[in-house]
Amino acid sequence: MPRINIDGTNHEVAPGHNLLQACLSLGFNLPYFCWHPAMGSVGACRQCAVKQFHGDDDQHGRIVMACMVEAADGARISIGDPEAVKFRASVIEWLMTNHPHDCPVCEEGGECHLQDMTLMTGHIYRRYRFKKRTFRNQYLGPFLTHEMNRCIACYRCVRFYREYAGGRDFDVFAAHNHVYFGRHEDGVLESEFSGNLAEVCPTGVFDDKPFAKVYERKWDLRGTPSVCVHCALGCNTMPNERYGTARRILNRYNGEVNGYFLCDRGRFGFDFVNSSLRLRQPLLRRESGGQPEPAAKTEVLRHLTALLSSGRAIGIGSPRASLEANFALRELVGVERFHLGLSASEQELLALIIDILQRGPARTASLKDAEQADAVFVLGEDVPDTAPRLALSLRQAVRQKSLETADQMKIPRWQDAAVRNAAQQQRSPLFIATPDATRLDDVATCTFRGAPDDLARLGFAVAHEIDAASPAVPNLPDDIGVLARQIAQALGNAKRPLVVAGTGCSSADVIQAAANVAWALCGVGRAAKLSFAIPECNSLGLSLIGGGTLQDAFDAVEQGAAETVIVLENDLYRRAGRAAVDRCLNRARHVVVFDHLLHETARSAEIVLPVGAFTEAEGTLVSNEGRAQRFFQLIVPEADIQKSWQWLRDLLSASGRDPGWTGLDDVTAACANALPTLASIPQAAPDADFRVNGAKIRRETHRSSGRTSIHAAVTVHEPKPPEDPDSPLSYTMEGYYGAMPSSLIPYFWAPSWNSVRAVNKFQDEVGGPLRGGDPGIRLIEPTSEAVPRYFDGVPEAFAMRPGEWLIVPLHEIFGSEELSRLASAVGERVPQPYLALNADDAAGLHIADGTMVTVTLAGEVSRLPISVRPALPAGVAGMVAALCGSIGNLLPAWGQLTIDSGATASEVDHHG
Ligand code: SF4
Ligand code: SF4
Ligand code: FES
Repeated sequence: MPRINIDGTNHEVAPGHNLLQACLSLGFNLPYFCWHPAMGSVGACRQCAVKQFHGDDDQHGRIVMACMVEAADGARISIGDPEAVKFRASVIEWLMTNHPHDCPVCEEGGECHLQDMTLMTGHIYRRYRFKKRTFRNQYLGPFLTHEMNRCIACYRCVRFYREYAGGRDFDVFAAHNHVYFGRHEDGVLESEFSGNLAEVCPTGVFDDKPFAKVYERKWDLRGTPSVCVHCALGCNTMPNERYGTARRILNRYNGEVNGYFLCDRGRFGFDFVNSSLRLRQPLLRRESGGQPEPAAKTEVLRHLTALLSSGRAIGIGSPRASLEANFALRELVGVERFHLGLSASEQELLALIIDILQRGPARTASLKDAEQADAVFVLGEDVPDTAPRLALSLRQAVRQKSLETADQMKIPRWQDAAVRNAAQQQRSPLFIATPDATRLDDVATCTFRGAPDDLARLGFAVAHEIDAASPAVPNLPDDIGVLARQIAQALGNAKRPLVVAGTGCSSADVIQAAANVAWALCGVGRAAKLSFAIPECNSLGLSLIGGGTLQDAFDAVEQGAAETVIVLENDLYRRAGRAAVDRCLNRARHVVVFDHLLHETARSAEIVLPVGAFTEAEGTLVSNEGRAQRFFQLIVPEADIQKSWQWLRDLLSASGRDPGWTGLDDVTAACANALPTLASIPQAAPDADFRVNGAKIRRETHRSSGRTSIHAAVTVHEPKPPEDPDSPLSYTMEGYYGAMPSSLIPYFWAPSWNSVRAVNKFQDEVGGPLRGGDPGIRLIEPTSEAVPRYFDGVPEAFAMRPGEWLIVPLHEIFGSEELSRLASAVGERVPQPYLALNADDAAGLHIADGTMVTVTLAGEVSRLPISVRPALPAGVAGMVAALCGSIGNLLPAWGQLTIDSGATASEVDHHG
């Protein structure tokens, strides 16, 4: 470990760090702007100046930028040197000459890095007396505000947007004092990571626009540790609340998972909890054919208990409900009568994925692992749309090659501009094989477009090239054979190869081919990792619980084996064809729905019980990595809303089967005891009895304006603050806030650090893991190093059918996911439904973008406009299932098209 001397004291620091990183990791307060732990140094702002001395005899030293100098063994620096102090104060003074000093009306105020650094440097008096330059701000879409006058030209935004996230519609314009950060003209920012600018920018240039409409100062916001519910990656979040309303989501650093960044679906999708579809009181349909009416909790429970006494109830669980909620339903109806509530194909694919992960030698990749992969093969998955944050990691993975080049040239990896300069366009191999183009293609070594069967065949061929024991692919065209060899070679030469696949194509063959590739790599001694993109926040957890299929549930109703169907946090119309769901709901004598949204299934129920959304409940979710993570309640639910597990516990008790659950910990423990694969879930976070110095962790900051003043106009008597018996977190500003378990951090704050940059104070070393380890506990580890028997079901090559198209599922980051699309800001970005068609096929049919066609799939019909996609293979069409109603649940399937002119597609020339 290098030893450096800071202001006369020796310290050990991590090898290879720069002086700024070293000083911050040691706990020193050294101001900075342009450096970012995930993006490295460019030395642009000059704010991190320190004095460096050369040898013991150097009395004078020289000013250096701490972020640009390695913390080499023997370095001697001074942070407090008067010249360095004066330099830093003058830097901030010149950065602020044009700053509007509008903190009182700036949304960043109170959590602003610029405010913090201004105070840290001691710059308190403004001497600049001339006219300030002013800019016109831009409309940037529904997610971000723009106030360019606040810019200090640190260049972080453009570095994040363009270099880190690959966006192309944002840049820096003009020069000198007029440098401008924005789009070339007003318009919606295209990158799905744009929301990170609100945290990346150290001032109030970019702020969270939906939050601006319901704004509160940071110190008056209550925070809680949570987990994103909008895909399966399990990004850690911090929702904020005020007056009982969820206001915004901030990134919650987890070094193994999301690091410093979220996707825009995760950041802005939370607002569904405030949607008009929220259920807030029980509903009961008292007469057959009547409307559901609000009912008292006691009446509904009485009614429900009577239904359950018949003993002929079945339960349908949910991949968006917690482990505890699903387990409680399973306890209520019995193991044999619990069904997973997944579409038939999804349930099969998830079981296959779990089998692969448990049986094979390839470990699941965390997002950090994905970022460090030095060769990646994406098979069948449109990653930016199905697992957005993973796409950001893969974009960093292609930089591994340039980092290695930098190592060879002895350029420190944090020297961002130098590394990029030295590496030029060098990239690590990334191969993407998907039905349609993806937004990662721009950094791919090579892309391949094919129908799912052809993608699977490519995967099988790659595996065979790596290990001849893996089955060969018959009748493989030469060009695909060459590509397979190229991919196999790149993966085989890599130290940390990664194979990415998932449920996106709805193809078991694709998943099996991906497993063969990863296993073959393990077989030849490579530490290959696998990442499967799966649909929902607890898809994996639900599958680990296990249960019957939705078809089993429908059959039970059909055959009279079930009278009452209890549906937990699930809209069945998203899971199966309309006809099948209609039939089940109509034939069941009683339908009971527990949910927070009044969706179509809930509308046809006899009883609807309002449950807490993720902001009003706590529980455990299992990410696609197999990482169990706990989310905690933010808001005490109003009126009759209860957490799902509480309703189910009450029902168990009312039915004379009191499970003895007084809090969430009891349900978690019962679940862990009953299911060996979930045995370690209690370790995902400390239990409700956890205390530090006898105190709970406080969800409110000590700077909170307080409770009395809020209602002073009404009464000065303070209501009793709510209590939270289910977690070690308090709802008030009373409690502990200091070193705490990483899974319980409700907000990042430290003395002098009011912005999100306070996370530095919670990490072992800046940019490293959180103190005590990153949150979550992995549930799935490979059980053997031996390669199991390879999958050998190589499919036939895709063959077009005259007059029909294979319609495959496509995905949209804004629109495919059920909950986020209800958030008003995300709703603005949801596209209209469409049928994607290859350009040649469209030309052959004499149709163009926007032409209306009628699609017939397995007897179901939908009318959609055409979206011409040049990348789609001939004979293949695509639909976004969630945008097209329940017909989307039938995908992939062969379908017929009828053009609105009246001609059917089969009557015209099929494929050009
Ligand atoms: S807009 Fe923000 S992040 Fe971008 S250069 Fe200006 S201050 Fe830095
Ligand atoms: S990638 Fe998934 S889990 Fe992460 S923020 Fe986006 S939607 Fe949420
Ligand atoms: S942080 Fe070092 S120059 Fe900007």
